[in-house]
Amino acid sequence: MKGLTIIGSGSAVPNQVLSNQDLSSIVDTSDEWIESRTGMKERYVSSAQESLAQLAAKAAINAISMANLTPEDIDLIILATSTPDDLFGSACQVQNIIGAKRAVAFDLTAACSGFVFALVTASQFIRQGVYRNVLVIGADVLSRWVNWEDRTTCVLFADGAGAVVCQSHETKDNFLGFELCSDGTQNSSLNLAYMGTTHNLLENISVGSGSYQTINMKGKEVYRFAVEKVPEVIEKALHRSNLTIEDIDWLILHQANQRIIDSVATRLGLDKQKVISNISKYGNTSAASIPLALDEAIRQSRIKPGDIIAISGFGAGLTWGAAIFCWGGSN
Ligand code: ACO
Repeated sequence: MKGLTIIGSGSAVPNQVLSNQDLSSIVDTSDEWIESRTGMKERYVSSAQESLAQLAAKAAINAISMANLTPEDIDLIILATSTPDDLFGSACQVQNIIGAKRAVAFDLTAACSGFVFALVTASQFIRQGVYRNVLVIGADVLSRWVNWEDRTTCVLFADGAGAVVCQSHETKDNFLGFELCSDGTQNSSLNLAYMGTTHNLLENISVGSGSYQTINMKGKEVYRFAVEKVPEVIEKALHRSNLTIEDIDWLILHQANQRIIDSVATRLGLDKQKVISNISKYGNTSAASIPLALDEAIRQSRIKPGDIIAISGFGAGLTWGAAIFCWGGSN
């Protein structure tokens, strides 16, 4: 079995900034309500001309450059997204934009848990010795799927992309453990469902024809689920890593709500200084939120090579998961 190292990170956001103040001229809300309930101050949203693939490609190029590789060194691209430009997938478009000619590319969907699920998927290919350099991207443009008249959701979601480069290693293994979970019985708590009406082809044969709706979320249910399940899944991932919470240098949760982040840290008994949050500047960018926060902290030199990081994503599905890894090529 090969080991895995995470040797590069990158991120990107669209050009337009949307503040809480701006939102208060779109729906009946206020800066005070949004900040006190969620911790968000502003977020980035894409224009109609900015594609998911372009955003993901920018983050990818930054990560490949930090890893001191070229796009042609990449063997596999996994794009975690729920908002592809093309329902058939956007990973191949990213492959084309960055010129990763040798890479196999596919999309993976697990909503806001997508980056954690994709990183774990990458680790399996690397462990088995199938691929050497794997690019894992989390990218979403949820602004396309928000009902801009619904104040209970439109103030929360935003756009962005983050990426890491994983590399196989003969002796070092910096991917320490993980735990993934799904519960389809709670699917109706949060979804972006297809709605079709009957289109009769022949007298006795019909098909569905329709389109996707906008994001539908029962906020309180998702909140309760997150504060209960996220500490549990992190503890399981720590157990599988033979570590305890005291061994963790940094905790990076999916950036959905500052109150969820604070509550999980408290339940885990983790020092607040070890919790990374950038929700005030970016809002909830779904699959992008963890790699975006990771990349920012690495580039600010808060996270240093050798630091042990716990990440945890949670969201629609419902899905949730955690992974523990050591940043950088050495440990
Ligand atoms: N501005 C002003 N008032 C508002 C707004 C708003 N934007 N939104 C709701 N309200 C009102 C409500 O109508 C309600 O008014 P009422 O008391 O008169 O009925 C009041 O504020 C309280 O609403 P609640 O829904 O009870 O507010 P709560 O404190 O639960 O916060 C929130 C709502 C922020 C959505 C919270 O429940 C939450 O963060 N849930 C988790 C969301 C989450 O983590 N999602 C992640 C999923 S990501 C993915 O997978 C895509």
